[in-house]
Amino acid sequence: MITKVVKIDESNISREAVREAGRILAGGGLVAFPTETVYGLGANGLDARAAAKIYEAKGRPSDNPLILHIARMEELEPLAAEIPEEARALASAFWPGPMTMILKKTAAVPYETTGGLDTVAVRMPSHPVANGIISAAGVPIAAPSANKSGRPSPTKASHVIEDMDGRIDMIVDGGEVGIGLESTIIDMSEGIPTVLRPGYITMDMIRRITGRVELDKASMGQMAPGVHPKAPGMKYRHYAPKAELTIFRGRPEISAAAISSALKKAASEGKKAGVICTEESIGLYESPVKKCVGSRRNPETIAHNLYDVLRAFDEEQVDCIFSESFEDYPLSGAIMNRLIKAAGHRIVECQE
Ligand code: TXA
Ligand code: MG
Repeated sequence: MITKVVKIDESNISREAVREAGRILAGGGLVAFPTETVYGLGANGLDARAAAKIYEAKGRPSDNPLILHIARMEELEPLAAEIPEEARALASAFWPGPMTMILKKTAAVPYETTGGLDTVAVRMPSHPVANGIISAAGVPIAAPSANKSGRPSPTKASHVIEDMDGRIDMIVDGGEVGIGLESTIIDMSEGIPTVLRPGYITMDMIRRITGRVELDKASMGQMAPGVHPKAPGMKYRHYAPKAELTIFRGRPEISAAAISSALKKAASEGKKAGVICTEESIGLYESPVKKCVGSRRNPETIAHNLYDVLRAFDEEQVDCIFSESFEDYPLSGAIMNRLIKAAGHRIVECQE
């Protein structure tokens, strides 16, 4: 299959390109497009055969359900059998935006889209290109992140091309996405709002709207035997860079010192080590492969660049990677959730 790549300028959106993407989706094809979180790989979410193509293109296990993307609030009613008051309140606070809600599904939603579950995940993205494409398609769009299963979510069209060229009909290149980490998933189907995957919309932001919220304890992975995360996707082995990644947790000065000693030790053993650091700390390390993930003064840059930095390390001939940790920011829950999974839970606690 030849994948058509079309550039769209967010500030001057080509109606023709959006219409073409909509036509392909309505006809059962696959189109990758930017959202404010990460690039999505879209298909008609009400068409079981189109949804099946997503699983094939990604190499994704078929019990891992997809998120349905809508462009307007009226499109929620036909998908959700019950919309609790708290869900309506969250929708008016955070939609369009980086929040996904799990609700009881109607018969209109095929089990092929929900991985056999009686619930459906729904999100209304705020990215104007995503919104335009969903409207043009005229159907809810099932869209997982547009990476091959097991790779970091794409935050640039070049990442999508790396993983999906030749496997899908069209890639809409809308430049770099804004947030860089996937949406916050909140289960609204069982009473107390429960965060299944942390994201840009934090627990505090949710609590301000609903007065109550819980975190699915299994969402950080490394579950006790018999404990299963409620979002099936959180149980799969997540992206792990080729080189072994270790997180050094502690105050930035303390962890920088620990990383520097680890670099010396690696060098003495003849190993080449890379570092994931920040603008504030990049000058502190002696390593030929230092990657700056952002600035601690602006933690949103860390979320924005994390997946790109993880992907970039696979091009480097390093034996191991040491990363600083990024605690104490509103976005830390989301950032550390992804980083800890990428590190396979290898964490060094740095003592004061
Ligand atoms: O930001 C995002 O959410 C991006 C963009 C493209 O919108 N999409 C995304 O989709 O991250 P995906 O497929 O990579 O992750 C969806 C997650 C998976 O962990 C899946 O198991 C969970 O949502 N999920 C979907 N439907 C569910 C349901 N009915 N119950 C529980 N978890 C569900
Ligand atoms: Mg994904």
